[in-house]
Amino acid sequence: MSSSELVIALTKGRILTETLPLFELAGVIPAEDISKSRKLLFDTNLPHVKLMVIRGADVPTYVEFGSADMGVAGKDLILEYGSEGFYEPLDLKIASCQLMTAQPVGAKAKTERLKVATKFTNIAKRYFAEQGQQIELIKLNGALELAPSLGLADTIVDIVDTGKTLKANGLEPKQVIAEISSRVIVNKASMKIKNTMIREILEKLRAAVELSQ
Ligand code: PRP
Repeated sequence: MSSSELVIALTKGRILTETLPLFELAGVIPAEDISKSRKLLFDTNLPHVKLMVIRGADVPTYVEFGSADMGVAGKDLILEYGSEGFYEPLDLKIASCQLMTAQPVGAKAKTERLKVATKFTNIAKRYFAEQGQQIELIKLNGALELAPSLGLADTIVDIVDTGKTLKANGLEPKQVIAEISSRVIVNKASMKIKNTMIREILEKLRAAVELSQ
């Protein structure tokens, strides 16, 4: 990336549909319809700003290593990745949900080693260690809600929004591990080198968030 250009990595999918209106309010508008394109890098109305559209789990990586100066990612993925490698100056207050443990309805509390299925293995490890609970971690990439009924796990750690997915699979939410929403993250070196450009966008985004609350 050149020092006069600002690359912002956005999370594709559902988060993107809530992110773009905020960016528009902040004066950053993609030059073409992102949803109708297979491109990954987009020009905007601002000649020095480009938008990347990638998987949320990759946004922290691109931002930490400076291929993107800024990014928008879910707090779940930031917690899972580890937040030491970048700044997190702004909560966009979109895509809000909770990261929770869940178990089959009525399941008894287990004191011995708990089998936990999740894609958030780092978060689960940290959380259960803090609780003093021994666990066996089972890494899954999706359809976690099936794991308890098939005997693969006692508990899952997953995102809960409406709670419908849990209910439809005979599970109930238990503990809240973290409140989740989308956050703006910034590469540490970019924050110094491109401070004026970044501050300007952050301030406009902050105002856009307030306006849309
Ligand atoms: C998430 C999560 C749950 C579901 C919860 O999946 O993994 O399956 O949403 O939503 P609910 O409480 O409103 O039912 P998502 O659709 O984001 O896809 P993923 O499997 O890629 O995480």
